[in-house]
Amino acid sequence: MAEKYNDLLQQLDMERLPRHIAIIMDGNGRWATRRCLPRSAGHKAGAEALRRATELCREIGVEALTVYAFSTENWRRSEEEVSFLMSLLIEYLQKEVALMNQQDIRLGFLGDMNGLPAEVRSALLQALQDTAENKHMTLNLAINYGGRDELCRAARRMAGDVQAGLLQPEKIDEAAFAAYLDTADCPDLDLLIRPSGELRLSNFLLFQCAYSELYFSDRMWPEFGKRDLLSAILDYQQRDRRFGRA
Ligand code: FPP
Repeated sequence: MAEKYNDLLQQLDMERLPRHIAIIMDGNGRWATRRCLPRSAGHKAGAEALRRATELCREIGVEALTVYAFSTENWRRSEEEVSFLMSLLIEYLQKEVALMNQQDIRLGFLGDMNGLPAEVRSALLQALQDTAENKHMTLNLAINYGGRDELCRAARRMAGDVQAGLLQPEKIDEAAFAAYLDTADCPDLDLLIRPSGELRLSNFLLFQCAYSELYFSDRMWPEFGKRDLLSAILDYQQRDRRFGRA
């Protein structure tokens, strides 16, 4: 029988919590199709799964949760699905702010904001502003995000700073580079979770994944519950992270 939530909670080593977790929220479409539901129902259920995951991270003291909500490649989906996802994002941002303020959660953003429809951009900017002072935890939404695109944007800004005399090329080391990434104000990524049985990074956090632990699950994202997230964290706590040491 699957272990109970509270039993799993008891097993957590609070001294070895991942500080930063990222999730590729995959499997919404398959979850819905298997239930003879439209894909949009899968995305709706995916948004609920995100609420649960955020709640658990906050409860146990994870500092940052970063989720892949819409990739630079997702524009290739049908107009209907893209438009549904954009409306869902707006609804989520508008509804969630009150709860995030109650729970002292700050919203963060990863991606290219310029490529977003004006209504999404304005809902996002409002939510970022409304939660900016919150301290307990950060929830980062990656929207119109691609890892390669992030690296290009960072390189472009760095080149601009070099040109303007603000940055010396010989001073560009890993830490200086990381400061130009969308995750500049986040702790290093400790754990990356991908549900739905796919074993790929799909252009997510390419620089940040260098030393993070990877956890794959066959569950679809909408059915990925707090117990699954706890199991992933417990699995992470069993790993021997050597960072290149013997
Ligand atoms: C991948 O599943 C999921 C997405 C492209 C969108 C993720 C969006 C959500 C979880 C909900 C909206 C998020 C917020 C923040 C409100 P898929 O559609 O590729 O699933 P499939 O591989 O089974 O087709």
